Amino acid sequence: MTLLEAIRRRYSCRAYQDKSIEQEKLDIIFEAARLAPSAKNTQDWRFVVLTDSQIKRRVAETTNRPEVFQKAGAIIAACSNSDEVMRCGQAIGPIDVAIALEHIALQAAELGLATCWIGSFDTDKVKAMLDIPADIAIIELMAMGYPADERKEPKREPVEKILCYQKWKF
Ligand SMILES: Cc1cc2nc3c(=O)[nH]c(=O)nc-3n(C[C@H](O)[C@H](O)[C@H](O)COP(=O)(O)O)c2cc1C
Repeated sequence: MTLLEAIRRRYSCRAYQDKSIEQEKLDIIFEAARLAPSAKNTQDWRFVVLTDSQIKRRVAETTNRPEVFQKAGAIIAACSNSDEVMRCGQAIGPIDVAIALEHIALQAAELGLATCWIGSFDTDKVKAMLDIPADIAIIELMAMGYPADERKEPKREPVEKILCYQKWKF
């Protein structure tokens, strides 16, 4: 599978089979995360992987789709321990974690797993449930598992709308 094929295969999965994810697959997926680039190579990401059904259910209950996400084989709490801001004014933490999470999503897709980014969740409740310290930010959750739905053709803008060369021409 080429990288572009894995990118095309990824979609936001909103129905999961009641099936756990093999440890060998998780190992490959987190190797893909580990190799992600990060600002100043700080590698400021920390991942808490939830596979226990009770914990998944409690975390999923704080999201916008509790019934869907609690069935996923895993929910990943993707955290950052950085509050640094780059010279360009952008925060390091969310950018680094987002890159690593998309590595995770694409590697998962290549292995026949599906994922869904979850930004709609209660960060204070999830932090308390998982013993995540106050100074650590949960940047996003991600559901992952064997899909029980099918990928739909993604709705995307044509390239002319999002791309120009040399100068801003939008
Ligand atoms: C940062 C981020 C947060 C998201 N949060 C949620 C969410 O809380 N719940 C959900 O069902 N989907 C969530 N999504 C999925 C988006 O709705 C989805 O990526 C978008 O509609 C494009 O569809 P596709 O991923 O199937 O290509 C999120 C995606 C991103 C990138």
